[in-house]
Amino acid sequence: MAFEGVRKAVVPAAGLGTRFLPATKATPKEMLPVVDKPAIQYVVEEAVAAGLDDILFVTGRSKRPLEDHFDRNYELEQVLESKNDLERLALVRESSDLARIHYVRQGDPLGLGHAVLVARHHVGHEPFAVLLGDDLIDTRDPILNRMIAIRNEFGGSVLCLMQVPRETISLYGCVSVEGEPVDGVVTVTDLVEKPDVVSAPSDLAIIGRYILDPAVFAVLKETAPGRGGEIQLTDALRVLATMPPDQGGGVRGVVFDGRRYDTGDKLSYLQAVITLASEREDIGPELKDWLHNFCQREIAGD
Ligand code: UTP
Repeated sequence: MAFEGVRKAVVPAAGLGTRFLPATKATPKEMLPVVDKPAIQYVVEEAVAAGLDDILFVTGRSKRPLEDHFDRNYELEQVLESKNDLERLALVRESSDLARIHYVRQGDPLGLGHAVLVARHHVGHEPFAVLLGDDLIDTRDPILNRMIAIRNEFGGSVLCLMQVPRETISLYGCVSVEGEPVDGVVTVTDLVEKPDVVSAPSDLAIIGRYILDPAVFAVLKETAPGRGGEIQLTDALRVLATMPPDQGGGVRGVVFDGRRYDTGDKLSYLQAVITLASEREDIGPELKDWLHNFCQREIAGD
């Protein structure tokens, strides 16, 4: 059976970002810079690299910086042009030339599941990708293409899973799987959002990349608020996992073992920025020297 291809990506950016206040009071957390680019630009670049150039942002109250970033800035372009600063001009134009970008408002931030539900009119009856700005996947370890290939082969929905230290599983959605992985692909039988360490069914965490069958929309419509009073995508996936394939059911997972950076809270965000900056040719060597000296001073207690 041939399944319809994946063309569209949905990027939810309407959360309150409370872990990053006050920075996120008037700016979506997805706009926080990782070195010199907003986190969300990395995510859009990843989607485009996987052939998805129709991007829908689900936005909340402070969507202005997002819209401006992915739009032209003629004034700035003119200034750079007049200075013949072509390098910076290219950087400014990069984000507005990336993809066809669309926006939809979530209204109230009722949860990730609800954010996906408001994308339904734009997505229609096609499978689609969801990418969360909290998770950055290193361009050297792409996973989205593989997830799309799994969807094309089996239909249903596909999750990106990562083995995490068991004591940290309560920070993530977690899955139960059936049997052993075949080529790194597992069949997901159940899901639970942020379980206790003791009751967690596995150490496989769901990270922020999904390929979803459009059947998810009908399920989300019926999904009651779950953990934290939010409409959880995990709860809808739980239902999809038990539905028959001819109704868009079935959930598979691919176990990702590449480089991923979490930018969702302050500490992991700083770690992501330092890791990525250290690898950059332009600033990496100097930063590493400085870090080295800084750590030595800290250890010596100066
Ligand atoms: P998070 O739970 O990590 O984001 O949602 P948050 O609620 O903004 O962050 P904290 O916990 O308060 O700091 C994961 C993703 O889903 C989006 C967020 O923007 C983030 O990209 N989201 C979440 C929505 O778009 N709408 C929602 O109602 C909730």
